Amino acid sequence: MKAEGRRILHMEFGQPSTGAPAAAIAAAHSVLDTDAMGYWESPPLKARIAQHYRETCGVEVAPRRIAITCGASPALVLALAAAFNPGDRIALARPGYVAYRNTLRALNLEPVEIACGEAERFQLTAAALEALDPAPAGVILASPANPTGTIIAEAELRAIADVARKRGTRIISDEIYHGLTYGPKIHSILEFEPTAYVVNSFSKYFSMAGWRLGWLVSPEDAAARTGAYIGNLFLTAPSLAQHAGLAAMDSRDELGGHVGVYTANRALMLDALPRLGLERIAPPDGAFYIYADISRFTEDSLAFCMKLLEETGVATAPGVDFDPVDGHRFMRFSFALSTDEIREALARLEPWFTAQVRR
Ligand SMILES: Cc1ncc(COP(=O)(O)O)c(C=O)c1O
Repeated sequence: MKAEGRRILHMEFGQPSTGAPAAAIAAAHSVLDTDAMGYWESPPLKARIAQHYRETCGVEVAPRRIAITCGASPALVLALAAAFNPGDRIALARPGYVAYRNTLRALNLEPVEIACGEAERFQLTAAALEALDPAPAGVILASPANPTGTIIAEAELRAIADVARKRGTRIISDEIYHGLTYGPKIHSILEFEPTAYVVNSFSKYFSMAGWRLGWLVSPEDAAARTGAYIGNLFLTAPSLAQHAGLAAMDSRDELGGHVGVYTANRALMLDALPRLGLERIAPPDGAFYIYADISRFTEDSLAFCMKLLEETGVATAPGVDFDPVDGHRFMRFSFALSTDEIREALARLEPWFTAQVRR
């Protein structure tokens, strides 16, 4: 459609439309002329990430527990491969990020999906984890989550950690949307469970998706194993990205500006969605997504999103990407665009939704 000259508004992408922070780009420019860029795991970046945990959640993480990866995706592979054995059952919320399910299957692990509805704000609970029989070997937590942006509140996170410890369930916490929040304080699982694996990335808050940079925090006794896995499976993340990422971690003012834009976009969306007939949503606490129930319009979210794209040029993600069972009646909007683009999208969405037949 773009090749035909149509202007498409990308509410389907789960990534910022902004680039890397200015200081990150400057750091990359300056090392290009001076650094040979061999295989490298940046000691200053590991130390800076450790400082980040000390400052944001009062947790001491020894730099040797940190592996620098090409984003959260390989960090997830590393954690799953290091922590579990083929055939192990791993619990996760449904709806959830599609790669969890697919990565588990690729590693011969068995996804155990827990249906999480509106009542739980689409998030895992300690009670749901406790009810699984037998206890799963692991659980993947995502807070804030994709596709809903909802978080697991502090008390619930603590309760999940307690249940997991009691039942011998290893926690993998995907904290990729930390930093992108709209009110509630977000807690790292490391505050409650030092033996959890934590996946994080520069792709979202740091606005550096294409630089392919992230990290994995391993439990103390698994750090050597994770290090061996990364050396064999992936070697190192790009040196250039590591230099840039280090500078990005001190770009709080610029990155805070992006969060300000998302805050304004979120407010515009929450204000407009009821006018579109989309009242059944869980307002997101973080990330940049809204997951909306579209069952009054359709039972086929893929066809619905395709029709919306063809007729308005607004691209969105169908719920079936995140939930193979109930996703046919949901769709996900990303508001990681400029505020002007959000206004333009809403101006196209309002008349279109108003014209749709309601069931
Ligand atoms: C919840 C979640 N985890 C992990 C990723 C992978 O991110 P990356 O590999 O770019 O760090 C994404 C990407 O959208 C995501 O939404």
